[in-house]
Amino acid sequence: MLSSLTIQLFLICLFAAFCKIFISWTQRKRYPPGPTPIPFIGNALDLRTGASWLKYIEWQKKYGDIVHFTVFGVHIVVLNSMEVAHDLFEKRSQIYSSRPQVPTVNRLAGTIILKATYDYDVEPKNDLFYLPEWLPGMGFQAKYRRCVTLTREIKIAPISLVKTRLQATGKISHSVASDLLGNMNPDGNVDEEEDAIKGVSGADTTVSAVTTGILAMTLYPETLKRAQREIDAVIGRERLPDFNDRDALPYVEAFTREILRWRPILALLPHATSEDDVYEGYYIPKGTMVLANAWAILHDEKIYDAPEDFMPERYLNSDGSINDDYPSLAFGLGRRICPGRSFADAEIWIAIVSIMAVFDVTKAKDDNGSDIHVTADYSIGSISHPLPFKCHIQPRSEVAPRLIQDTGN
Ligand code: HEM
Repeated sequence: MLSSLTIQLFLICLFAAFCKIFISWTQRKRYPPGPTPIPFIGNALDLRTGASWLKYIEWQKKYGDIVHFTVFGVHIVVLNSMEVAHDLFEKRSQIYSSRPQVPTVNRLAGTIILKATYDYDVEPKNDLFYLPEWLPGMGFQAKYRRCVTLTREIKIAPISLVKTRLQATGKISHSVASDLLGNMNPDGNVDEEEDAIKGVSGADTTVSAVTTGILAMTLYPETLKRAQREIDAVIGRERLPDFNDRDALPYVEAFTREILRWRPILALLPHATSEDDVYEGYYIPKGTMVLANAWAILHDEKIYDAPEDFMPERYLNSDGSINDDYPSLAFGLGRRICPGRSFADAEIWIAIVSIMAVFDVTKAKDDNGSDIHVTADYSIGSISHPLPFKCHIQPRSEVAPRLIQDTGN
């Protein structure tokens, strides 16, 4: 039989152990809420398929505007509301302005982290290339490689040209790429900064936005008609619009803004923390990848009525003038905001207004004369593009072909 003293000692020890566990539990680092991780791989399995920003919206409904998860030990925090994104990327920009480094762990871990942060799907192309090219049907590999090289050259050539001139003369004529290269931080990671310039400033982003505009014209014909009525009334059909007309065309302005909101080209804005931080009692360690979910914020029902609909009117006052709501988040926020945003906005506007002025864009017809269905699907990737769709584009008038030809000359 145990003596009562032994029992008392045992109970005291038990109580002390309980207190210790309780204290360390209350003092533990509390990450923001998020899905339960599996040991070692974290939440890697949750992100295998589909657009990751949509998964993050699902998690937002369950866990709130700030969600934490891990992938192979890497901390990832997603910001799903403007308030939280503004608090961290703008107000604490000194901590939240690094770019995430994808750790060189193994291929699988790296692939999933890229998918989580940039929605970048690493193609299993290396596996494909194990098949020898002399096998029947494998000749496409050489063509594929040529395509990859050409695409890379198209992206890199303008930057390389600017760089060569800059190195040779120390001076170059004005261009956006040269401004950016000239302003590069000499203490920063030069390769990384150059990559950012090539990647985000490439024609990719603006082409994607203009294609989205054509898609919207096809799917929402009444918006194109209204814009064309405005252009005809202000400019007529004898000349192409130019930047001097911009203020007089509020509906076209609203249409351009809606393109940026409706299908944000970068759905996720990947930043990283350079120091440990605590936000609303949540611990966010140094090196965390912090993603502002631009898609979720630009489709937030609390801010935008019927966010899935393409509605340029949301940017108009009741008297038809343009309001102050610009979807600037499409260009990021904080210190890393897109330095090419004014240039890009102008490029998109002039392309869209010119297309509207000279072309009618409608759904294409099949052999039976029925409209061909447009799915409006988008590629999943760091820069999102509309997938190829069919539409019918024809000049609006007899003068239109001449105007287009004059532009070419
Ligand atoms: C529709 C066109 C464009 C869109 C939607 C766009 C959007 C963005 C976004 C969302 C970012 C990341 C911001 C962040 O992390 O908070 C970015 C970064 C950047 N953009 Fe753009 N961009 C466009 C066109 C351009 C153009 C035309 C240029 C240059 C001529 C450019 C240059 C850059 C550069 C250099 C960065 C990296 C900035 C940094 O990391 O500090 N972008 N852009």
